Amino acid sequence: MRRPTAAGNWKMNGLRENFDDIFLIDAASKHVNCDVILCVPDTLIKEMSERTNNIFTGSQNCHINKSGAFTGDISAEMIKDAGATHVIVGHSERRVNYNENNHQIREKANIALENKLKAIVCIGETLTERKTGVTLDIVKRQLVDSLPLEISGETIIVAYEPVWAIGTGLTPSIEQIKEVHDFIRIELENNFGAKIGQSINILYGGSMNAKNVDEISAIKNVDGGLVGGASLKADSFIPIINALSLD
Ligand code: 13P
Repeated sequence: MRRPTAAGNWKMNGLRENFDDIFLIDAASKHVNCDVILCVPDTLIKEMSERTNNIFTGSQNCHINKSGAFTGDISAEMIKDAGATHVIVGHSERRVNYNENNHQIREKANIALENKLKAIVCIGETLTERKTGVTLDIVKRQLVDSLPLEISGETIIVAYEPVWAIGTGLTPSIEQIKEVHDFIRIELENNFGAKIGQSINILYGGSMNAKNVDEISAIKNVDGGLVGGASLKADSFIPIINALSLD
């Protein structure tokens, strides 16, 4: 059975003074029955990994190369060296702002895996794509082209984040989320075999909060959440963690 995951993505937010929230989240995660991951800015990785006990430390991006003349970039090896265990790749904010494509995202996921980082691979359609009825085509293409060729539940998490639901307060209907998550599960099983396909956590992301988490996480094939805004404060993230924890 898949263990649920409560993942937070702090994006470009967080200073050392915010460790109070990290410690509260860490303490609240001690007795829960789900994995808790906090993907903080790289500047906080080392301290977070050293000073927390119950949560996984994640980064939000890595370069496709091992090292070299890439001013301002950070490699998977460096993230691992700083103490991270997870890295997000292919977030829509990077796909849009830095024109990252599926093939580059696969390379990022590959190098993450080579460095023993678990990759959280993000996929999801834009509003135009949803309105024109191509959501499942887009999701399929992103899955086929962004995932490494060899994956397992130990190395990969898939996060379905409809771009139009991120930071907007909008969420898809329960039927819409169910349709896409079921589709992703079938695609994973078809491409990687039933056993591997069943082992992979599929997280929902996009305006998840304490109010909607119960309804969303009750959907079959929703194995947790990738939470942006509501993960920034312990007060708003801890109820989500508790809701995702198995009884
Ligand atoms: P919000 O929860 O702020 O909508 O962000 C979702 C997200 O992008 C997580 O990666």
